[in-house]
Amino acid sequence: MGRRSLPTRGHPRQARRGQGPEGAAEVHPGGGSGGQGQQGQQGQAGRQGCTEGRSQGRQARCQARCQDDSSEGGGKSSGQARRPQGRRQSRCARLSAGAEPPVSEAQPALRWAVVGPGNIAGRFVQALQGLPDQELSLILGRDLARARSFASAHRAAGRHEPRLQQAAGEAQLRAALSSPDIDAVYIATPHAQHGEAVAAALQAGKAVLCEKPLVPGLAQARPLLALAQARQAFLMEALWTRFLPVYAQVQQWLQAGLIGPLRGVQSSFCFSIPFDAQSRCFDPALAGGALLDIGIYNLSMTRWVLQQALGACPEPLRMEAQAVLAPTGVDQRLAATLHFPGGISSQFVCAFDGMADNGLRIFGERGLIELPQQFWEATEARLTLAGQAPQTVHLPFQINGFEGEILEVSRCLRAGLTESPQMPLSETLATLAWMDALRTQVGVRYPFD
Ligand SMILES: NC(=O)c1ccc[n+]([C@@H]2O[C@H](COP(=O)([O-])OP(=O)(O)OC[C@H]3O[C@@H](n4cnc5c(N)ncnc54)[C@H](OP(=O)(O)O)[C@@H]3O)[C@@H](O)[C@H]2O)c1
Repeated sequence: MGRRSLPTRGHPRQARRGQGPEGAAEVHPGGGSGGQGQQGQQGQAGRQGCTEGRSQGRQARCQARCQDDSSEGGGKSSGQARRPQGRRQSRCARLSAGAEPPVSEAQPALRWAVVGPGNIAGRFVQALQGLPDQELSLILGRDLARARSFASAHRAAGRHEPRLQQAAGEAQLRAALSSPDIDAVYIATPHAQHGEAVAAALQAGKAVLCEKPLVPGLAQARPLLALAQARQAFLMEALWTRFLPVYAQVQQWLQAGLIGPLRGVQSSFCFSIPFDAQSRCFDPALAGGALLDIGIYNLSMTRWVLQQALGACPEPLRMEAQAVLAPTGVDQRLAATLHFPGGISSQFVCAFDGMADNGLRIFGERGLIELPQQFWEATEARLTLAGQAPQTVHLPFQINGFEGEILEVSRCLRAGLTESPQMPLSETLATLAWMDALRTQVGVRYPFD
């Protein structure tokens, strides 16, 4: 994991929002950061037909707690963005996995631009609007009317209106993102478009949180990492699952060795959507396919499990994959087994053409850990030790689950880090290498490969 010092200059803090031509967005009664907004996203997810967010609504807010067989929470973070001085002075000490988010009332707001105002950007904005030290400064889309309607749908009472701007392609994105009222950029365009937006944001000297996968393949990732390093800019792939409260509990169980030597991991991430050659899920030009869209969670969390259990994730000795390809040539279903040293195996299936239990199970010699449903957005984990009754832990989201990755970016920037210790770029590269190899095995090629 790379840890580098940020340049001595801080993020530009002088300019204020509302300076752009589209400073005011329309009011939409369905907007806001509460459950209604979440339902709105799910409706949109249904239309888009291809998103993790479509599978499970999560309405738990605030007050995460941990106890057997109970859940629920209430409350809401709110508050106005502040701009006290000295934001970049402290090097945060609480960076280790599972550390309590050091959100302080004394911190100024982190000002975000969102690129790609589609389905999942709505969930991101909902989380942002629920956090007191985060601010939505700018929404960037290829079409101003769509950006305006996105802003309207995700308007939150008591929060500043974001500027709206039309931008397409790296040059326009870079110009727009160079605005001094932006500290960080969240990118939620289709996979094949991530690279240009990441490059634009890094060139503009901004911190970047980019949706998964960072880029479709390893070859496209390397120049971006070099650029981030050259610009000393923060870059993280938005693997939000790693920041969910319930995984901090799983981490404790694994690191304590409760289940004994690790034997294997099994997981599924499957749902059914109709084939649509135009959809980003099935279009090879947009780097569609189940593996890149959802199988990346199976792989990334497999890596995470092995890291927690073994201290590091070894390279697989071999991988065996099978896929069913859609008429467009991308994988509509892919199943694989990864064989690791010591007889440890990981099996997973990801699919757009069927259902599964969508759990993740971790097998040890003396016990079993289960994230029994929707493991990528889990709020429940179960530990079963040999001869003992299962122990179930519920840890609801503070807002909608995306708050963890947002707070991680804040934490890292305050600490002057250019990578997240919990989701370092080495993880992005390693997962991309696995996905490249799996795609090669099953014969999925993109036009730009
Ligand atoms: N973390 C999660 O749970 C999660 C869930 C779902 C998806 N994702 C990820 O989020 C990203 C976006 O997914 P999504 O489901 O939100 O997609 P989406 O609803 O289609 O939104 C993508 C947006 O990107 C913009 N865009 C820019 N270039 C585009 C192009 N060439 N073709 C189509 N749209 C383009 C579009 O907005 P304009 O046309 O207005 O510019 C569009 O609204 C993907 O990387 C996906 O893997 C993450």
